Amino acid sequence: MKHAAVLTMKYRKDKNMQGYKKYLKEILIDEKKLKARIAELGKEVSTDYRDSENLLLICILRGAFIFLSDLSRAITVPHAMDFMAISSYGAGNRSSSGAVRITMDLTENICGKDVLIVEDIIDSGNTLSNVLDMLSTRKPNSLHICTLLDKFERREVDVPIRYTGFRIPDKFVFGYGLDLDEIYRNLPFIGVVDLEKYDG
Ligand code: IMP
Ligand code: MG
Repeated sequence: MKHAAVLTMKYRKDKNMQGYKKYLKEILIDEKKLKARIAELGKEVSTDYRDSENLLLICILRGAFIFLSDLSRAITVPHAMDFMAISSYGAGNRSSSGAVRITMDLTENICGKDVLIVEDIIDSGNTLSNVLDMLSTRKPNSLHICTLLDKFERREVDVPIRYTGFRIPDKFVFGYGLDLDEIYRNLPFIGVVDLEKYDG
């Protein structure tokens, strides 16, 4: 695994943002499908939380920030937002081990609030399982998960997911918030990385 900073330098020369095409095996979910599904999720959340007076969306940085911004605008009930960043110990970039660490904590006190965690992708389930444990000790009124992507075949720890955008096969994906060595998060689709060409 090369150091991400070195690869970031490489991509910096990619002036017209087309370098990812070399590593793109297929577009798994295009912009239109993402938009349509997120509109549905927004409706579901708005219905379920119509009586809540303190809905708080918690965005798990960095991957979920684009999903959060589109989901939030598809939600028609009042809500606050807060952000936290998590890093997992060990095991390279493509899987997470058991333990996680908060690298940037929330600014809000979540006690008594209806918390909805917004995540980009659930893989083994280790990250979110730990986040749920940590946040539940802070006594929210309710605590649920909304994930854009669910790589269900890879699950090691059971995590209760209330809202899922798409269940996807066991493929390494990027775009729409998910990075290829920190670049290309702004692509409007979810693409599959061609691991035969990509040695990141
Ligand atoms: P888990 O703890 O194994 O569920 O891993 C969740 C985290 O792994 C996500 O928040 C992502 O940061 C990362 N991850 C898992 N699969 C992918 C992928 O296909 N593309 C990019 N990041 C991924
Ligand atoms: Mg990531």
